[in-house]
Amino acid sequence: MDKILIEGGRSLQGSISVSGSKNAALPILVSSLLTDGMSEYEHVPQLRDIQSTIDLLMHLGARVSRRAGRVCIDAGGLDSHEAPYDLVRRMRASILVLGPLLARLKKARVSLPGGCAIGARPINLHLKGMERLGATIELKHGYVEARAKQLRGAEIYFDVATVGGTENLMMAASLAEGQTILRNAAREPEITALADVLNAMGADVQGAGSSVITINGVEALMPAKTPIIPDRIEAGTFMVAAALTGGDIRVENCEPEHLGASINKLRLAGAEVTVGNRSIQVSSTGRPTGVDIKTQPFPGFPTDMQAQFMVLMALAEGQSLISENIFENRFIHVSELKRMGADITINGNTAMVRGVGKLSGAPVMATDLRASASLVLAGLVADGTTEISRIYHLDRGYEALEEKFFQLGAAIKRVKE
Ligand code: EPZ
Repeated sequence: MDKILIEGGRSLQGSISVSGSKNAALPILVSSLLTDGMSEYEHVPQLRDIQSTIDLLMHLGARVSRRAGRVCIDAGGLDSHEAPYDLVRRMRASILVLGPLLARLKKARVSLPGGCAIGARPINLHLKGMERLGATIELKHGYVEARAKQLRGAEIYFDVATVGGTENLMMAASLAEGQTILRNAAREPEITALADVLNAMGADVQGAGSSVITINGVEALMPAKTPIIPDRIEAGTFMVAAALTGGDIRVENCEPEHLGASINKLRLAGAEVTVGNRSIQVSSTGRPTGVDIKTQPFPGFPTDMQAQFMVLMALAEGQSLISENIFENRFIHVSELKRMGADITINGNTAMVRGVGKLSGAPVMATDLRASASLVLAGLVADGTTEISRIYHLDRGYEALEEKFFQLGAAIKRVKE
């Protein structure tokens, strides 16, 4: 297993171009199941989770070709309706094949994804939504067994604004008979990106980006040819790195309107943030100021930026109260940050962070995707050497992160263990 070695203390300068969004690409690649033609996608990031999705689509019988950031998928010859445990446990977003398989093949057998490091990650809202569309759902031997003679439009109210649930139901409803209304739908940019692709395929999805999405089902969908939007969390990670290392970074090829909450908090913490058409420049103006954070569904402060922002707060003047309101166990990075000298106290879903003058490099272990990113950020600013193990977590969601930080002047390298 690879490790990342970092010599901290360099201020990062320069510009970096953001890769395609993992969380947009996953549902969009899966939406290719909804048509029997060849769909083509550009700017697909080269990540472990993308490869896992491609492996699953091929297991179902789709033909997939990939060259750098271009992925072509032909789901004309599907010969399986099953997403097996060994594929789903690698990437829980595999549950997103449930809706398209029900819509296209009228049946699906998908392994229950189970939980992960950050929480139980239930899928009850996905399943209740499919039942509202007329599917029969049984849970047997660790699998979801779903059938539907014909999906019919319905009104669905989500107890929680679930990103994956909204995506799964949008895809299922696009080929259902009649109209579906999703209420309390997730509003993340990745939802809008998926709706844009579905509409380009001939679907009729209105209201994506708001909490009420209306889908008028159609007979059939055509293949799409579409680019993947930039990854807002990767962009946010570089923005925090600039503020953290006393640097000046221009993040290119990003969508500033996807990053409003992060821009706001960085400014309140004292960073200089200049917003361009498709770029954001962040420079540090000295020691950051402690600010409070509450993670919320979009457009609130993203849970996927919580661990990264906590590192900035660990070195801030004063203190910061960080409450994690989306997932029940998303403070796993705290114990490793404390080993590097951070002063953090957890009380339930809230972490009290008291700023310290410096962090010290240490051997640390990654536990989940965004926790790994926070350990890289901490290593960039800590005194001495930081060695991060189990960085396969990082490779799930960041494309060549250490190379990008190296380009910005960091003393960072990946070593084979
Ligand atoms: C997506 O996960 C993202 N993953 C996550 O990013 C992100 O943190 C999350 O949305 C929130 O923004 C992808 O898009 C692949 P949810 P998802 O359904 O869809 C509860 C990363 O680091 N819930 O919006 O699984 C759930 O327990 C990853 O890139 C139910 O109770 O998130 C959670 O508390 C991590 N029942 C809340 O909703 C359900 O049926 C939000 O979950 C579904 C969800």
